[in-house]
Amino acid sequence: MDWEQAIGERLDRILGATTPPNLAASIRYSVLSPGKRFRPRLMQASAESLSVPRAHFMPFAVALEWIHAFTLIHDDLPCMDDDDLRRGLPTNHKVYGEALALLAGDALVPAAFELTLESLAQGCPAPAWQNAFSLLAQVTGPRGVIGGQAREFLLTPESSLQDLEQMHALKTGALFDAALLIPAHLAGLETASPRFESLREFSSAFGLGFQSADDLEDAAEERDQVAGYAYTSILSHLGFEEARERATHALSMAEDRLRNAWANDCRPLLELSTQLKRKLAAAQDPGTHS
Ligand code: IPE
Ligand code: IPE
Ligand code: MG
Repeated sequence: MDWEQAIGERLDRILGATTPPNLAASIRYSVLSPGKRFRPRLMQASAESLSVPRAHFMPFAVALEWIHAFTLIHDDLPCMDDDDLRRGLPTNHKVYGEALALLAGDALVPAAFELTLESLAQGCPAPAWQNAFSLLAQVTGPRGVIGGQAREFLLTPESSLQDLEQMHALKTGALFDAALLIPAHLAGLETASPRFESLREFSSAFGLGFQSADDLEDAAEERDQVAGYAYTSILSHLGFEEARERATHALSMAEDRLRNAWANDCRPLLELSTQLKRKLAAAQDPGTHS
């Protein structure tokens, strides 16, 4: 799948000829910058496991990537993490200014929602589309990634590992839930079915694994020799090997559950899980390489 093309063509369509050029340029800059496209690839793996037609899941996969781009633009703003670089390039506000960065992020959310209508136009059954749309809205909003960003402000050095993981389940996990579970809705899977449940469990293991890999990879640069790891890192609660093993074990358990519920149909999902386990295995403990 050529995700760059899929994402770019649909962006051209939604921006049309009437989006002001300064806003269009700011949106294009961030959406088309070189991301890993992990969430759409995860959605594709889930959709292929469930034989969801491409025309039904593609608009949702692209919409999810746009929503992810919105979260990154706003996350980098001076009032949030105040970052200068994203994906190896100057952040949106560094290039277009804070006001256009704010507006580009704002605009991507309704644009993403509008895009999902293409799935309906391509014959996706309305009840399936409604369930998928409802999940996309939920993971974006106050009970999803935006809520997760706000929850991060409530953390303190005294917060527990459970508090940290609750925040990550929203901030990082919610968009993975959308990637894995939207295809289940599009396939008309009952939410109480063993397959739906196994996907839910796989998603939370994937979110934990992704965040743990991110924290392990950041460990070398983030560690303050005196104060230790930042309290928003899993490593302020667990040892390096413990964090790695915990996430790897959760992934293996979730894989077993998928195999039991899906037999051979879940192969595309297992491949992504293997990739993530490799990433976890490759992280180098800075404590052992001083
Ligand atoms: C970055 O996500 C934000 C986190 C949730 C850690 P990715 O690592 O998927 O970022 P891109 O899309 O590849 O830039
Ligand atoms: C990224 O979060 C933005 C969201 C997940 C909403 P972080 O601040 O933890 O990650 P980076 O380091 O900016 O990618
Ligand atoms: Mg950040």
